[in-house]
Amino acid sequence: MDGPRPQELLDALAVPALLIGRDHRIVAVNAGATEVFGRGLVGRHFVLALRQPALVEAIERTHGDGQPRDARFLARKDRTDLTFGAHVAAAGRWMLVSFEDRSAAEEADQMRRDFVANVSHELKTPLTAILGFIETLRGPARADAAARERFLTVMEREAQRMNRLVTDLLSLSRVEANERMRPTEEVDIALIVASCVTTLSGSATSRGVALVYDRPAAPVLLKGDGDQLRQVVGNLIENAVKYGGTRVEIRLTERLSVPELHRAGVVLDVIDNGPGIDERHLSRLTERFYRVDGHRSREVGGTGLGLAIVKHIVSRHRGRLLVASRRGAGTVFTALLPREP
Ligand SMILES: Nc1ncnc2c1ncn2[C@@H]1O[C@H](COP(=O)(O)OP(=O)(O)OP(=O)(O)O)[C@@H](O)[C@H]1O
Ligand SMILES: [Mg+2]
Repeated sequence: MDGPRPQELLDALAVPALLIGRDHRIVAVNAGATEVFGRGLVGRHFVLALRQPALVEAIERTHGDGQPRDARFLARKDRTDLTFGAHVAAAGRWMLVSFEDRSAAEEADQMRRDFVANVSHELKTPLTAILGFIETLRGPARADAAARERFLTVMEREAQRMNRLVTDLLSLSRVEANERMRPTEEVDIALIVASCVTTLSGSATSRGVALVYDRPAAPVLLKGDGDQLRQVVGNLIENAVKYGGTRVEIRLTERLSVPELHRAGVVLDVIDNGPGIDERHLSRLTERFYRVDGHRSREVGGTGLGLAIVKHIVSRHRGRLLVASRRGAGTVFTALLPREP
């Protein structure tokens, strides 16, 4: 009876794989492995073809004792680094090496580690300040009423910063938790924008920023989560007021078809005439804790989580967040929201 040929077996596998013969030469390579290693592997000695010591050693040892083994294998494809888990096993006259792409899992791990490190750092800074002031109040400044007042003011500000950070973290994890559930409430986004403008008009005035919003005459209805959309609008306007120039304009337009979404929806533009954001920062703005000017952002009380929350909420609504900016020419944040998510 005729069995399948080794090449046919490899081609039937969903993962990249290759076969090595007794003579240490590569016998067959499937399409997935060709993508990773390139062409021209067949007939070559595996040590020269695969090169990485961890994998080469695993193959040599499996060749010696017949026991299956795992090794890590790092590759580069289209300028991104990939991490594979390679599995080496004896298969009759050959050795089968199959690869599982673990890049996504490793990246998620790395992000989790970075996140914990960031959160700890963000909490630690105000906490250290508060502890320092407590010490001073107990010691040198014990009898100094004026200093006490000043220190308490700073301590209050630092405690409020920690409070804001925890509130933002909770809000981020809530948004992430229900990101797959589509909102079903019918909300008037024109009203939401109007109420955000009212809420923020005080802080805008005190910074000398004019808020301009030409509210549409009729309600602009869409299916959404009212509280979350208020967070989106509030955050974008607050950023424009904090980091922008002297004028912030909010435009709300209904469209029968939003090209990027391929359906009916609304376009919300928040336009400022501030210093703008350098091109190289634009793609990273929605990362957690990413700030263009960390010092300035902290000074105005920013946690760097605002846009991360905005992005998650917009994506829960099956919308898109766009930003256009040039240094010195102001910034436009645009939220595209479909009428029906
Ligand atoms: N309109 C804008 N003009 C210039 N820079 C901006 C603008 N909006 C945001 N940025 C920059 O993007 C960074 C990230 O914004 P984000 O809203 O995520 O964080 P934040 O405002 O610092 O903190 P939070 O919103 O949590 O209080 C800001 O720190 C700021 O540097
Ligand atoms: Mg913000």
